[in-house]
Amino acid sequence: MAFTPLFAVCYRLMPPLILLESPAVNLAGVPGVNMSQEYLVEIRDLNFTYDSRPVLTGINMTIPRGKIVAVMGISGCGKTTTLRLIGGQLKPTSGEVRVGGQVVHELDADGLYDLRRRMGMLFQFGALFTDMSVYDNIAFQMREHTDLPEALIHDLVLIKLHAVGLRGAQKLMPAELSGGMARRVALARAIALDPMLMMYDEPFAGLDPISLSIIGELIRKLNDALGASSIVVTHDVQESLKIVDYVYFVSEGKIVAEGTAEEMKNSTVPYVHQFVWGEADGPVPFQYPSRPYGEQLMESAVRRV
Ligand SMILES: Nc1ncnc2c1ncn2[C@@H]1O[C@H](COP(=O)(O)OP(=O)(O)OP(=O)(O)O)[C@@H](O)[C@H]1O
Ligand SMILES: [Mg+2]
Repeated sequence: MAFTPLFAVCYRLMPPLILLESPAVNLAGVPGVNMSQEYLVEIRDLNFTYDSRPVLTGINMTIPRGKIVAVMGISGCGKTTTLRLIGGQLKPTSGEVRVGGQVVHELDADGLYDLRRRMGMLFQFGALFTDMSVYDNIAFQMREHTDLPEALIHDLVLIKLHAVGLRGAQKLMPAELSGGMARRVALARAIALDPMLMMYDEPFAGLDPISLSIIGELIRKLNDALGASSIVVTHDVQESLKIVDYVYFVSEGKIVAEGTAEEMKNSTVPYVHQFVWGEADGPVPFQYPSRPYGEQLMESAVRRV
């Protein structure tokens, strides 16, 4: 897959002054953001409850700069909730999430706005703006968040679309895209402002095997070209293990295993083994919790007599 590093093209396209002033390309030196730390994201003793129901309990997680970290676990274990806490859409019940050294839930509205501008998010059910062309979907954030002239936005949109292989689709409307193409456009939109942190919520869901590996490769290449860090929340173990550096397994709101992709493939921890090898039964049972089967059948038989 042909891929041009974004910064290299930006440098060729942009006058140095604009390059320095533009938040779209200047990632370092963000006010309040500590770029020297080893970890871009640090989650410490994080607890979160919806109403009175605990969803996350005692989560500790770190996302090193430049790396891709996967958060895996079955439906409802709290993956999207974790991303919302990192993005500041939710506040922890206790504990903290730091991004670039800043405690997210302590930021005021301006601080949060600044931080979010440097995060790219591929939403689990995130649709594109349906009444805008592919081009305008990607230009949207640049027009909203920067003072860049339209001619420069035009070039940047083409760079983003080229990076995901869809420069030729700029005039199409979202309704004219296949699922895989729409995901790639959403990816181009998520990187519109060259984020320092990319968060992907189920990026592989519902894709054919080819689109799936294209998205996987793009996640890796965009992360490396942007010099960003990425969090990939997914059920798709096989695809994500090909591209990620480190994995956290979450079950019922707790981290039950963690390690490199290789360690996870060879893990003998029953939960991880079941998840990685897609076994129907194991610590994650096939049956929804219920009374003993025999007891229930006996009761029906007795009622019939
Ligand atoms: N707004 C909400 N109000 C109350 N409970 C919620 C809310 N959003 C999510 N939950 C609950 O919190 C738990 C974790 O949800 P979350 O969306 O984080 O799961 P997930 O791991 O992303 O699942 P999936 O893989 O299906 O996307 C679930 O039990 C869910 O029912
Ligand atoms: Mg989810």
